[in-house]
Amino acid sequence: MAASKKPRLRLRDVALCRLLTVVFVTLCGVLFLIFLLASNSSTGTHDIDNIDAYYHDLKFAKWPDLPQQNDLSLRLEKLNRLLPRNLDLYPTLAKNHIIVVLYVHNRPQYLRVVVESLSRVAGISETLLIVSHDGYFEEMNEIIDGIRFCQVKQIFAPYSPHLFSDSFPGVSANDCKDKDNSGEKHCEGNPDQYGNHRSPKIVSLKHHWWWMMNTVWDGLRETRDHAGHVLFIEEDHFIFPNAYRNLQVLTSLKTRKCPDCYAANLAPSDVNSRGEGWETLIAERMGNVGYSFNRTVWRKIHNKAKEFCFFDDYNWDITMWATVYPSFGSPVYSLRGPRTSAVHFGRCGLHQGQGENKACIDNGMVNINVEEPDTVSNIELDWEVHTYQNQLGYKAGFKGWGGWGDDRDRHLCLSFAKMYHSKGTASPL
Ligand SMILES: *[C@@H]1O[C@H](CO)[C@@H](O)[C@H](O)[C@H]1NC(C)=O
Repeated sequence: MAASKKPRLRLRDVALCRLLTVVFVTLCGVLFLIFLLASNSSTGTHDIDNIDAYYHDLKFAKWPDLPQQNDLSLRLEKLNRLLPRNLDLYPTLAKNHIIVVLYVHNRPQYLRVVVESLSRVAGISETLLIVSHDGYFEEMNEIIDGIRFCQVKQIFAPYSPHLFSDSFPGVSANDCKDKDNSGEKHCEGNPDQYGNHRSPKIVSLKHHWWWMMNTVWDGLRETRDHAGHVLFIEEDHFIFPNAYRNLQVLTSLKTRKCPDCYAANLAPSDVNSRGEGWETLIAERMGNVGYSFNRTVWRKIHNKAKEFCFFDDYNWDITMWATVYPSFGSPVYSLRGPRTSAVHFGRCGLHQGQGENKACIDNGMVNINVEEPDTVSNIELDWEVHTYQNQLGYKAGFKGWGGWGDDRDRHLCLSFAKMYHSKGTASPL
């Protein structure tokens, strides 16, 4: 009996062995394929029509309040899940790197200048650059595709009004316009405090900023666990070569030298100033050019989602100054150097009478001089902090410029704050 059992067992063993070999070989093949796809996606340009090949098999359920997505919106959401590019050139990020987030709409001639300035920033290769797009524009993508100076990840706001031609968050046929009376016209929408109905092009800025903030801090696998600071810049900010090194110094000094500082800034809050040139650090109200903060501060901001989303002003920065920062209950300062490391620029000739040395762009050329002190870190560790108290500017009590009265916008905004926080309904991008 025992003797006759043995060969059968062995036969079974042989079959099992073969099966295991087949499984093993298949597994190797699949792993190799995944490796090929991953290395492709990190170097090559992406083709939006061929994106299914890259699609990660993530469970992706929708937060119930988010609007119905169209084809483009769904495809962009898949692009958001691609690995960063240039992983072959820069396989690792430096310890204590500061992530840089560049948020853009559709001004390619500006973006070229910004990217060119970033390419000269000392230390940029140590970090990850995230480019957040409001809308999908080939010319913008081409510029980002050309970046070779650091890891780059592109993300696209999937609920941008620019992606929806006939439904919310874009315009729908039944929407009220301008100063329509919704009762008389039987149209949809709530007017703002000045009687005006929503304009998708105008609300897109605040939506994009809020979606981006939530996504960068809480939605991306690449950044969810980032412990340090994130720097935010826009498509019309020229960045000086010493920006990154200066920011490293500022963020390292911030808690010790300025306990009331929530952030570190590359530029003065007065966008026309290039700094005082003193030998001190400056603490002043939060600026909107080249600001950076950490996750602790983001949590405080995120906790004020209702204040942010229900304030009737279509500007994200004015909304922050008038509602979110004042609600923290203590002064909100930002630390910076005495000489700017970033400059906001506009079209030449548009702001005449505001001083000749205003930074501007004409035919793709920008009139900003990078001088010797702007090429290396120029902040001394032993400087005192000079604090500007009671600066002018938007603050608590300001009613808002309007443009943000529609319930649908307010609720979309709230959904962005919730979408990565409800167990089982959302997953990281
Ligand atoms: C983040 O920044 C705040 C404000 O400067 C500071 O109080 C806090 O200690 C920082 N958190 C971490 C984890 O560094």
